[in-house]
Amino acid sequence: MKKVLALSLALCLTLSLGACGGSGNNGGGSSNGGGGNDSQQSSDNGGGNNSQQSDNNGGNSGEQKTVGIAMPTQDLERWNRDGAYLDAQFQAAGYKTIVTYSNNLEEQQVNDIQNMLAQGVDLLVIAAIDGNALNTVLNDAGDAGIPVIAYDRLIMNDNTSYYVSFDNYTVGTLQGTFVKDALDLDNAAGPFNIEFTGGDPADNNAPFFFNGAMDTLKPYIDSGKLNVVSGQTEFSVVGTEKWATDTALDRAQNVLASYYADGTQLDAWVCSNDSTALGVTQAVSSDYTGSNTVLITGQDGDVANLRNIKDGLQSMTVYKAVANEAVVTLDLVRAILDGETINESLISSSGWDFDCAYDTTSYETTPGHVCPSFLLVPDVVTADNMEEKLVTPGYYTVDSDGYLVATNG
Ligand code: BGC
Repeated sequence: MKKVLALSLALCLTLSLGACGGSGNNGGGSSNGGGGNDSQQSSDNGGGNNSQQSDNNGGNSGEQKTVGIAMPTQDLERWNRDGAYLDAQFQAAGYKTIVTYSNNLEEQQVNDIQNMLAQGVDLLVIAAIDGNALNTVLNDAGDAGIPVIAYDRLIMNDNTSYYVSFDNYTVGTLQGTFVKDALDLDNAAGPFNIEFTGGDPADNNAPFFFNGAMDTLKPYIDSGKLNVVSGQTEFSVVGTEKWATDTALDRAQNVLASYYADGTQLDAWVCSNDSTALGVTQAVSSDYTGSNTVLITGQDGDVANLRNIKDGLQSMTVYKAVANEAVVTLDLVRAILDGETINESLISSSGWDFDCAYDTTSYETTPGHVCPSFLLVPDVVTADNMEEKLVTPGYYTVDSDGYLVATNG
C-alpha cells in the first residue's frame, strides 16, 4: 500500500514538476544535477496551483505544521530525487514544506537551516553536507524543542532525534560481493588487480560503504588473490571530497598513469557511488590501455550510470529506493508530531511493503549516544535486471532510445 503511495507520488511528481510552479522548482532541477542551481524555496499547500493541496492538517493538532527539508546539493543527482519525493509526500499529507539545497557548502546549509528555524518550522529533515558541521544549528533546534531527523546521512550531534537511511555497510558488502562473484574469487586462479575509490570523508556514510566493500574483499587481498596495485587501501587515501566526479576522475587518471601504463591488467575498481564511478569510468575509457572489461561498481542508479551499465561501461549500481526512504520519513515525522512513542512498532503499524529495520545499536551521534535508526535495504542493479528492479516498480521509465529516465527527475 505504501508502495502504491510512492508510485502515485512518482506520477504526481512527474506532473507537478512540470506543471505546478511552487514545489516544482524545489526538487526539479534536472536529472543530471542541474549545474549549481541550488536554491531555497518555500512551498505551501495553501498557495498557487499545487495539485497536492490537502485539507489534512499534517497531524491531529488542527494546525498546519511546517517541515523544513534541507538537502545538500542539486549537483549530485540523487538529492534532486530525495528532495522531490519528500516535498511531494509532505505536501500530499497536508504539511507545509520549506526545501533547501545548499550547493554542497557547509556554511550555506547552516544558514539555510537557521532560516528555517527563524521561519518557525515544527521539524527538520536534514541530509547533512558535513555531519560534523551542524553543531550550532542543531543545538539551536534542540533548545527550541524542534525534532531533527538525520536523513540518509547521520549528524554527529545528540540533538539528532532519529536517523532514516539505508543499511550503509550492506551497500559496501553488496559491491564487494558483486566483485567477488564476478571474478569468481573462490575458484579462479587469479591473481586479479583491483582499485578502490571511496566517498566524502565529511559524510558519515562514506566509511560504512568503504568498510563493507573492503571487509568483503580483504580476505582475498590478504591471500594474494586480489592485488591492489597502487597499494592504496586506506579510506583516508581513496576518499573523494564532496563525492565529486572530477576529483574521482583525476585520482583514477593518476593511478592509471602511475601503476597501469606499463600494460598491467586492471580487473576491477570498487567505487562507493555513481558520481565517483562516473569519473573512474571516464578515466578507464580514456586512459586504460588494456583490452579487458574492467568491473566498476556504483551506488544510486543515477541516469548517466544506468546508461553506462546498459552500454557495458559500468558493471552494477546499488539502488536505494529513495521513494521508500521518503515514505519512512513521512510516517516517522507524522508519529513524532502526533506525540506517539517511537519504536519498532512504527514498522508494523505503517504496513510498509518493503523491508525496514529499527536499529538502536549501529549509529552513535557522539560516543555512547545511540541514535535510533530506521534502516532500509539496498539492492543490486545490473544490466540484466534493471528493468525489473527499476522500471517495473515505477521509479524509472524507458525512453525511446532504450535508456532509463527517472520518473521524478
Ligand atoms: C548517499 C549516497 C550518495 C552520496 C553522494 C551518500 O550520503 O548515501 O547515496 O551517493 O551521498 O551523494
